Amino acid sequence: MKRILLWILPIALFIIQGCGEEIVKEQTDNMVPKYSKDPHSFSNPNEAVVKHLDLSINLDFERKVVSGVANYQIENFGGSEIILDILGLEIHSVYTGEEDKVKYKIEEGDENGNMLIIPITSSTKSIEIEYTTSPIAMALQWLAPEQTGGKKMPFLYTQGQAILTRTWIPCQDSPGIRFTYNAKVKVPEGMMAVMSADNTQSRNNTGEYSFVMDIPVPSYLVAIAVGDIEFKAIGERTGVYCESYLLDESAYEFADMEKMLIATENMYGPYPWGRYDVIVLPPSFPFGGMENPKLTFATPTIIAGDRSLTSLIAHELAHSWSGNLVTNANWNDLWINEGFTVYLEQRIMEELYGREYAEMLSSLSLQELEDEIEEMGNDNPDTRLEIDLEARNPDDGFSGVPYTKGYMMLRKMEETFGRDKFDEFLKGYFKTFQFTSVTTDVVESYIKTNLIDRYNIAFNTDEWIHEPGLPESISKINSDKFEKVEESISIMLASGAYGDLRIADWSTHEWLHFIHHLPSDLVIEQIARIDEEFEFSKSGNSEILAAWLLFCVENNYSAVFPEVEKFLINVGRRKFLTPLYKELINSDDKHPGLAKDIYSKARANYHSVSYETLDRLFE
Ligand code: BES
Ligand code: ZN
Repeated sequence: MKRILLWILPIALFIIQGCGEEIVKEQTDNMVPKYSKDPHSFSNPNEAVVKHLDLSINLDFERKVVSGVANYQIENFGGSEIILDILGLEIHSVYTGEEDKVKYKIEEGDENGNMLIIPITSSTKSIEIEYTTSPIAMALQWLAPEQTGGKKMPFLYTQGQAILTRTWIPCQDSPGIRFTYNAKVKVPEGMMAVMSADNTQSRNNTGEYSFVMDIPVPSYLVAIAVGDIEFKAIGERTGVYCESYLLDESAYEFADMEKMLIATENMYGPYPWGRYDVIVLPPSFPFGGMENPKLTFATPTIIAGDRSLTSLIAHELAHSWSGNLVTNANWNDLWINEGFTVYLEQRIMEELYGREYAEMLSSLSLQELEDEIEEMGNDNPDTRLEIDLEARNPDDGFSGVPYTKGYMMLRKMEETFGRDKFDEFLKGYFKTFQFTSVTTDVVESYIKTNLIDRYNIAFNTDEWIHEPGLPESISKINSDKFEKVEESISIMLASGAYGDLRIADWSTHEWLHFIHHLPSDLVIEQIARIDEEFEFSKSGNSEILAAWLLFCVENNYSAVFPEVEKFLINVGRRKFLTPLYKELINSDDKHPGLAKDIYSKARANYHSVSYETLDRLFE
């Protein structure tokens, strides 16, 4: 029997895989070229679209520039020109295969970018662009050795989402357009380069690296990191890249990565990207994580030592389905990426660590969302899931809304239709739309057909997607653990017996709930007493530290200001920086000039994603 299985299994796998490929191919072959309008890209994919990129670049750490050649294979649907998005690129020359040099045009666009317009004919199969980036290209952060964690070598990483790839590669920079890519990259000898592609696990001494991404991806998912990088395996298909000083800790922290991968596959279908690795970047990385395919980019601030912040890995892994496999067609629809991803993240965490754990996570997020919506205004149009970012920067749509309101809608659907039916729906959704990009309209009608009409059960998508604020029907999240935390705060403050809480052996999430629920009328002595007892300002857990420092700034507890300064200089993660600087600026009357003073020392350590947001706070 065993022997028969051994024979049948590979054949069955081959057939399943083969079929999968066939379906994708058929879809792409028969697809009528119809790309929806993207307000943040000047490209003209309905006339001519890029299909494959051969990138050949040299990274100059002295001059802080990338230079080289982007060669695209294109498909021409009868256009007389192909338009690429560029921002701050110096274009040296353009070729089209049949002609030597072609006369291209650069036309001014808007503050989001300019147009590189290349004339083509019906027989043009490829275009080749020689270019150099600006030393202040917004996607790129060049770090001096002292700005890295290991302090041994310089470092470079890119952040493409939402529309920054155009600052280092001329491209049709819309999430609705996918292409495969190969890259040849030359870096200083001794350094290691990795990309959102197939990666080598060991450094070579030539400084020349080659990469292949043979699954079509949108431009915002093309990414590179270069530095003193090493690799350590975690599971069969998973591992971690990092500067050596944090490699073992990172591998320890992410020990459950392979389990997460398997759990997600069991729920939503096979992982199509081959390997799933994570690179832990220097502390200036502006996000918690970025779902670059095959290789998530992550902040070192999730290395807490106790694996308590790994829901972020579940989140970025989940994007391998919700985002990288099925993508929002433009940035008005970010909720399609993020809302679906938070739902999957929750399911992964529940699968691995149980419902109670996952409910603590969702409760924390919902509280944050409620506060944020109150601040934004309940009727603010940006609190709808589908928003209008025309003539704005896509970053303006970044808030808890696409994430947590999106999640709460999917959670409500799960509750309405039942988990089994909802899982089947999601599996079908990923399969139907795999390797394509979808608009809100498409998702809405898919929900109508495959849930509402199919099961004849009412569900109001409108109040979630097109109306601002949170619907009345939103699910309640109950966490017994958090209720106990609230009780403990009352008892602690009434009795003055702060030390008793220690025995409670709380998780990071309970401590976060604790800090968020401290009353705002504590006197300085009480705050000092709490810090002395629980040592929050010495916490090695970045979430706890950031929450505590924020509480202290809000309550003008100046004893921790040196810690605040240290944190703001060392860490570049925007989610931590924005509320801290906001609060420092708000309380400028109490400590004049402090916010500006810290910012002037810290700004050079931040990626453009962070300093662009912070500059606006200081305007
Ligand atoms: N893709 C996002 C980051 C992003 C969103 C970059 C929009 C640019 C524009 C990533 O998956 C993400 O959501 N990161 C979160 C982590 C998370 C656990 C919610 C972050 O960085 O905080
Ligand atoms: Zn995300």
